[in-house]
Amino acid sequence: MFKRIQPVDKPVHLVFEEQPITACEGDSVAAALLAAGVTAFRQVARGDALRGPYCMIGNCYECRVEIDGKPNLQACQQRVRDGIQVRLQRGLRKPGERDEP
Ligand code: FES
Repeated sequence: MFKRIQPVDKPVHLVFEEQPITACEGDSVAAALLAAGVTAFRQVARGDALRGPYCMIGNCYECRVEIDGKPNLQACQQRVRDGIQVRLQRGLRKPGERDEP
């Protein structure tokens, strides 16, 4: 669906749902996942429907994921870092969890 314009020159390695992904230094997490063919980033609060990034500028919140155990992070606003573990954001947040400011 999405294809990189230039090859990855400075690789950064992350994991999405147990799947290793090579990104480019400076990528947002959303851009890295999309370039790797991942389009489902979160599951809606009620039901099984999956959602993915829409705006890529931090407005729609459709790109929320869990990064290193921290839920509700906007993938389009987070830079990739070596070794991060990214997971689908599943359903409602748990009591006491807060959105990233
Ligand atoms: S894609 Fe819209 S907030 Fe991230």
